[in-house]
Amino acid sequence: MPDIKVIETRDGSSSLLIPEMNETYHSTHGAITESEYVFLKMGVDHFSETHPDQKEIKILEIGFGTGLNAWLTALAARQLKIKFTSIEKFPLEASLIDQLNYKEKKESGESKRIFEGIHSAEWEKECQITDEFDLTKIQTDINEFNPSAESFDLIYFDAFAPSKQPEMWSQEVLRKMYDLLKTGGVFVTYCAQGQFKRDLKAVGFVTEELEGPPGKKEMTRGTKLQPN
Ligand SMILES: C[S@@+](CC[C@H](N)C(=O)[O-])C[C@H]1O[C@@H](n2cnc3c(N)ncnc32)[C@H](O)[C@@H]1O
Repeated sequence: MPDIKVIETRDGSSSLLIPEMNETYHSTHGAITESEYVFLKMGVDHFSETHPDQKEIKILEIGFGTGLNAWLTALAARQLKIKFTSIEKFPLEASLIDQLNYKEKKESGESKRIFEGIHSAEWEKECQITDEFDLTKIQTDINEFNPSAESFDLIYFDAFAPSKQPEMWSQEVLRKMYDLLKTGGVFVTYCAQGQFKRDLKAVGFVTEELEGPPGKKEMTRGTKLQPN
């Protein structure tokens, strides 16, 4: 495991920095702000608005990391049932998770209990965290992850940036993401790099360039309109 440092981002929420990669787990402009905007607003809210009759959503996250996206999604699951699968090649040590200030950023005791539930949940097993949120954490490399095709409604693609980990953004990986989505499924990411957007189109997604979270001009959403 490389050396990892806890940092504070501009909205006061924590993130992690890997100095040897010069890469952070979230936007330095605000970890919670970025996650709520990119994945919740542009992902879950958009999916619900465009699929109003669907009461259960299956989400796949690439890169569980600190569990921030999983936790914010669990807090947002109210009228909807969410089945959340997250893969991670390098699970973080509990001592690092304990230093993150996320729990202090949401007032209720319930949100603290959910954060702890997410982190104490067993890996490789579906665990019920709340009535509306089931979590499956899988320790694997993205290249070894081969669930059945067309099993997810929404993908949170939260890999390190293409400049830092280009292999995560290859056409091969993006094609796998396409295959894993159901028709009508949605892929969201904070990234808006040109080659990535061209590759996303090349594997079949209809892409949208959306206004980014604070500090970022754009982000990207892809929709799968044709079956595999
Ligand atoms: C930007 S961080 C994810 C942040 C996370 N979503 C959160 O809410 O904290 C990217 C994550 O991808 C993981 N990762 C890197 N290479 C991977 C691979 N080949 N397969 C799966 N996960 C990988 C990293 O360990 C890291 O946790």
